[in-house]
Amino acid sequence: MILVTGGAGFIGSNFVLDWLAHNDEPVLNLDVLTYAGNLENLAAVEADRRHIFRRGDICDAALVSGLLEEFRPRAVLHFAAESHVDRSILGPGDFIRTNVNGTFTLLEAAQRYWSGLDTVAQQAFRFLHVSTDEVYGSLGPGDAQFSETTPYQPNSPYSASKAASDHLVRAWHHTYGLPVLTTNCSNNYGPYQFPEKLIPLVIANALAGKPLPIYGDGMNIRDWLYVGDHCDAIRQVLLRGRVGETYNVGGWNEQTNISIVRLICAILDELHPGSPVTPHEQLITYVKDRPGHDRRYAIDARKIERELGWRPAETFASGIRKTVHWYLDNQPWVSRVQSGSYRDWIDRQYGP
Ligand code: NAD
Ligand code: TYD
Repeated sequence: MILVTGGAGFIGSNFVLDWLAHNDEPVLNLDVLTYAGNLENLAAVEADRRHIFRRGDICDAALVSGLLEEFRPRAVLHFAAESHVDRSILGPGDFIRTNVNGTFTLLEAAQRYWSGLDTVAQQAFRFLHVSTDEVYGSLGPGDAQFSETTPYQPNSPYSASKAASDHLVRAWHHTYGLPVLTTNCSNNYGPYQFPEKLIPLVIANALAGKPLPIYGDGMNIRDWLYVGDHCDAIRQVLLRGRVGETYNVGGWNEQTNISIVRLICAILDELHPGSPVTPHEQLITYVKDRPGHDRRYAIDARKIERELGWRPAETFASGIRKTVHWYLDNQPWVSRVQSGSYRDWIDRQYGP
C-alpha cells in the first residue's frame, strides 16, 4: 500500500480518488483535518476497503512511526501542508509547524522505517514530496520559466516554509540515502478546491452576487494546471522518476488573474444566467494588493516530458469549463464548506 498525507485536502483527495480509480493498491490516508481537510471530498470511497483513513498530525512522531510499522507502505506521498499564501501572511506559525517541522518529523520516521526494510524493499521504497513552484520566487515579464535548476528565492511565509521542506527532503537523500522524489508544481484548479483560492472563490462569489476581489492591478500571472493532470504527473514520477531528482510540473498555461476572472464570468453568463448580478463581470472589484505579491510564475515542464513522457492532457479551455460545471453541480458542498471556520477567516481577510 501507499501512505498519503493530507489526502482530505484539495489535491490529496483528488489524488486518492484518481489512484483508486487507476489501480487496486490500498491507500492509507493520514490527515489531521484542518479547515482545509474535508472528508466529504472522499465520500465516493467511504465504503471502499482500499481506502483507510486515519485522523492525525504529521508532527506527531509516535503516531507516524506507529502507522509506518503497522501498515508497512512501499511509498509515502507527502501532500499535507498549510497551503494558502494569504493565511501565511496573517499567521505564519502554522506554516512553519506543519510544512517545516511536520516534513522533518515525517522524514525522520520514514528514514527509520526504511532503514529497517530488507534490501529489495529498501530499493523499491519512495518518499515523494509534493511541492510548489512558489519556492523559485517571482519572474519578470521576459524571464525564462522556472526550471529544476532555478535558484530558490521564496518570498512569502508559505513559499519559504515549502522551500525549507524541499531542502530537508533533499538533505535526507544526500545524507541518509532515503529514496526521495520531489515535484514542484504550478497553481492547480479543479473540483474540491477550497473557496479561499482564486478560482473557486470567484465562482462562489459570482453565483452569490458578491464582489470578485482582484488584488492590485490584476496583471499577476500564474501557470494554471488542472488538478487531474497534477495527479497523473505524481503517479508517473512515483512509477518512473529517478531517485533524488526533482520534477517541475506545469500547464504551459500562463494567465493573468484578470483574464481568468473575466473568463469565469463569461462562462457563468452562459451557464447560469439567473445569478443575482449579470453580466457577472460587473462584480469585479479591485482591492488592496497582497503584501509581497509575486508577479509571475511560469514552469518549464520539459524535464518531466523528456524523462517520463508526461504532458498535461487538459487544455485550460476544457479544464476551466469542467471546473465551473463541477461547482455549479456541487453547490451544497460549497455551502457546507463556507458555513465552517472559512466564514470567520473570510471576514478577517475581506471585512464583514
Ligand atoms: P489543502 O490546503 O487543500 O490541503 C492540505 C491538507 O493537509 C488538508 O486536508 C489538511 O487537513 C492537511 N493537513 C494540514 N496540516 C496537517 C498536519 N499537520 N497533519 C496532517 N494533515 C495536515 O492543500 P492542497 O492545495 O491540496 O495542496 C496539497 C500540497 O500540494 C501542498 O503540499 C501544497 O504545498 C502543494 N501544492 C499545491 C498547489 C495548489 O495550487 N493548490 C500547487 C502546487 C503544490
Ligand atoms: P491563490 O489562489 O491564492 O494562489 P497563489 O497565491 O498560491 O498563487 O491566488 C492566485 C492569484 O490570484 C494570486 O496572484 C493572488 C490572486 N488573488 C486575487 O486577486 N484575489 C483573491 O481573492 C485571491 C484569493 C487571489
